[in-house]
Amino acid sequence: MLKHFLSLIFIATLLSACSDQAPKAPTPQLVPKPTEMTVKEGSFTLNEHPHIYADPVAYDLATSFKEEAAAHLGIEFRLEKSEGLSSKLNGIHFRTSSDSTLGDEGYQMAISTNKIRISATHTAGFFYALQTLKQLLAPDPTASALSKGQLMLPLLEIRDVPAFQWRGMLLDCGRHFMEKEFVKRYIRLLAYHKMNRLHWHLTEDQGWRIEVKKYPKLTEIGAWRTEADGSRYGGFYTQEDIREIVAYAEAHHVTIVPEIDMPGHTKAVLAAYPEFACTEGPFEVANQWGVHKDVLCVGKEEVYEFVENVLEEVTGLFPGPYFHIGGDEAPKDRWKASAICQERIQKLGLKDEFELQAYFIQRVEQMLNARGKRLIGWDEILEGGLLDEKPDGSRSNATIQAWRNMDWAVEAAEKGNDAIVSPTSHCYLDYSVETTPLRQVYAFNPIPESLPAEAAHHILGGEVNVWTERIPQQRVDTMVFPRLLAISEVLWTGGEKDYEDFSKRVDRHYERLEAMGVNYGPEDRPAYLTARFDAAKRQYKVAVEAGMRGLSHRYTLDGSAPTASSMAYSDSIVLDKSATLKVQAFRKGKAYGEVTHQAFSFHKALGKSQQFTQKYSAKYPASGDGALVDGRFGSTKYRDGLWQAWEGEDMEIVIDLGENTAISKLGAGFLQETSSWILMPASVTFSLSTDNQNWQEVASLTTGVSPKESGTVVKRISQEISPTDARYVKALAKTVGQLPAWHMSAGGKVWIFVDEIIVE
Ligand code: ACM
Repeated sequence: MLKHFLSLIFIATLLSACSDQAPKAPTPQLVPKPTEMTVKEGSFTLNEHPHIYADPVAYDLATSFKEEAAAHLGIEFRLEKSEGLSSKLNGIHFRTSSDSTLGDEGYQMAISTNKIRISATHTAGFFYALQTLKQLLAPDPTASALSKGQLMLPLLEIRDVPAFQWRGMLLDCGRHFMEKEFVKRYIRLLAYHKMNRLHWHLTEDQGWRIEVKKYPKLTEIGAWRTEADGSRYGGFYTQEDIREIVAYAEAHHVTIVPEIDMPGHTKAVLAAYPEFACTEGPFEVANQWGVHKDVLCVGKEEVYEFVENVLEEVTGLFPGPYFHIGGDEAPKDRWKASAICQERIQKLGLKDEFELQAYFIQRVEQMLNARGKRLIGWDEILEGGLLDEKPDGSRSNATIQAWRNMDWAVEAAEKGNDAIVSPTSHCYLDYSVETTPLRQVYAFNPIPESLPAEAAHHILGGEVNVWTERIPQQRVDTMVFPRLLAISEVLWTGGEKDYEDFSKRVDRHYERLEAMGVNYGPEDRPAYLTARFDAAKRQYKVAVEAGMRGLSHRYTLDGSAPTASSMAYSDSIVLDKSATLKVQAFRKGKAYGEVTHQAFSFHKALGKSQQFTQKYSAKYPASGDGALVDGRFGSTKYRDGLWQAWEGEDMEIVIDLGENTAISKLGAGFLQETSSWILMPASVTFSLSTDNQNWQEVASLTTGVSPKESGTVVKRISQEISPTDARYVKALAKTVGQLPAWHMSAGGKVWIFVDEIIVE
């Protein structure tokens, strides 16, 4: 025993003080930032075979840390139970604290010249302390020093307690199936950033992804879809897979919140069991994105039996206290037309289909409560008076996840219910960084401004949502990172924010992400182009600005792809004739992000005055009046600010060229994205006039693009005419009006998107 003890001392002395020794330890750049951290002069050096002393609460965690450090950091720790050993020994000490202000997840860490002391009240706190320690120990820039057993840490004191108990990410495995190992990797990545909820979206119109033994067709049929090109796509998790993932999550202090979406987003259910629909079917697992009208028929009693049986099996697989039942985007069309639903509405004395949905949710809540679970639903479940007191005095205890805006969280909290916030404005990571840059996520405040302070405790926390319509597994990293860093800090610190300071830490953190093989995407657009038109000189001045620090730009004007030897951007670019400007950003000498391009057309209507018969929609104003004669073409992204749009109406514009002008060609540009209700116009006609009263139709065109064409189509059409002198040009693009019968949202109002009217 004595011999053993002496050898302990011997090894422990290898952890030695070196505060007087250069070089200095790097200043820690941690994400999320600890709530309190003081860095002192001096450093701690980790020598060969450093020791860990752990008490029983922390021992298992310390064991896995030891293994991880050996595998990933190349550091061989020796682990000892600390009972009976002096806390004066050099090494890393894990001690359970009785400081209740640390809560379950908080911890303290003090690094002195010969010791690292970590304390927490629960294993979760120790776990987060270890995530901090892993970031401190992460390879590079200390990697080279590491190999010589010379890893230095700054002397510091941290006291770190999360602001929000709910720090989550939704992963949609319905639209795209994600492999088991990939889900585990995300659990690891969440935990590394001190996130503690994986909201696992397991069922969708496009695929049911969880085995339910009582309803085998849910996965035999419901997990597989036929794509438009005839290929089959799908996959699901067996109950064995689920148990494995749940156990993995538990070990990482991540609670999985399963979501079985109902009564909407259930086409895969109906494909397998058409008897749960209001209409006869048959149904197919959806292969189009969007909101589908076929939903569970909540007038039928057998639907409740089905839901209860599914919940009976699924709740048993997930130990967490919460269960998400979706409840979003459930169109009421089928219930309105269903005699069974109408009968139930009458029998229950309900006002409408929204109250019918509230009735359904209440019954599902009872099923969950009976199994010891609490219900969470998207904010639509508030519609229909779910939270109102019932005649028997009971009230729903549902937790509301606000996504359309924060007002739903306010409504829930004011009524005394809890809420989770993940609004589209800040938390939708399926949106591109053009719409939701890193800075925007970082600016998120989970506590709604209008919420009275005494109700703030009802905001449990927030989530970022990774909907995967356009994000197969291999693209998830690029969409999630680096924006996950922002939400992790928002939810962990909750308080004062300093974007500049955050940015510096993100820069350092990229090295850690790279070491973990994370294929992170850009923080923002690599280039913002601002084009100013000088009417007197008839020229454009284009300024290029980076959406983030550390980028330089090179560009071409001839449509070719910019390279490292293309023209370097310094001041604004002056254009006085038609050109396609292409800009490539560079970071650390390498091309960064995609090419930003903008086509300019110096045609005869450029900068002229114009009037519309019906003004464009306020939702898509582009740059306002004049946008259709600004010489700038839109991209394939209809939200790029260059497309002007009309909803359910024709686009009719009259352009005044100022004086009679010889015209020989007329054209226009349109965008189609059928899944977004944007179609090509039915027809386009051009008329000319010298007096704005007597018109002569000179051209009539169609785009020739089928409304069934999938994806986004940009089409520029034009027609040559025999040269005619005219001062006024009228363009009329007639809308198709309503979405055609075959469209998922048949009867909806069609949008027309236009970027330019070209007069030559
Ligand atoms: C949602 O985005 N439909 C919750």
